[in-house]
Amino acid sequence: MLPRGVVAREAHGDVEAPLHPREAAQIAKAVPKRRAEYATVRHLAREALGELGIGDAVLVKGEGGGVDWPRNVVGALTHCDGYRGAVVGYRMGVRTVGIDAEPHLPLPDKVLPTVSVESERDVLAGRPDDGLHWDRLLFCAKEATYKAWNPITGRWLGFEDAEITFDLAGRTDDGAEGTFRSRILIDGRAADGGAPIAAFDGHWRITDGLIVTSIAVV
Ligand SMILES: CC(C)(COP(=O)(O)OP(=O)(O)OC[C@H]1O[C@@H](n2cnc3c(N)ncnc32)[C@H](O)[C@@H]1OP(=O)(O)O)[C@@H](O)C(=O)NCCC(=O)NCCS
Repeated sequence: MLPRGVVAREAHGDVEAPLHPREAAQIAKAVPKRRAEYATVRHLAREALGELGIGDAVLVKGEGGGVDWPRNVVGALTHCDGYRGAVVGYRMGVRTVGIDAEPHLPLPDKVLPTVSVESERDVLAGRPDDGLHWDRLLFCAKEATYKAWNPITGRWLGFEDAEITFDLAGRTDDGAEGTFRSRILIDGRAADGGAPIAAFDGHWRITDGLIVTSIAVV
């Protein structure tokens, strides 16, 4: 689901992992479940960074909510019940990344209208029931979009500010996989010196009760 140059690590449970004192201070007041997911994704991210040859990075959350990655690195984290994931790449080869994971379940009642635009709802309404929860997949693709967008623009992107379209590449025994495009509906000006963002292309996979989406701009 990711191009060369992007290193990913994932886990389906928490691991006992040491935190840097600044990370520990940041998460000290959180409940144990949150501390465990925070530590586990950072452990995974450090493993992935290790594969890039980067050791002992401190991965505190920055003001925007995302991690303050080492200067030469881009990365993204996700956690949901039963899944923790981290992806990283060198900034010189990878402009931005975004990942998200969600349980493969329908969105709760009344959520879809708040996270979709009309054209997306029309497409969803026209789909035959194929056992895939396209509403949750849409949400998952939007969250990955935000994680790819925010670090390079420094700006908010609302659920009404991008339109997602999906392609289904194939079914598997317990799910399916494919690609998606997030068309940006607002001014795509970036703050990283790169070209404005018109759209992101991403991958999705549903397997084992989980949806995972990823975007990597190389
Ligand atoms: C920030 C947001 C995308 C996180 O998604 P989530 O499904 O709630 O949570 P996940 O577990 O998948 O991801 C959490 C990780 O996202 C990362 N994250 C948070 N804010 C981020 C940001 N602004 N940019 C990049 N990554 C961010 C963090 O690393 C966080 O992990 P951590 O708290 O352990 O450091 C979500 O809470 C949100 O605010 N969404 C609204 C914006 C949006 O999605 N717009 C749609 C655009 S089409």
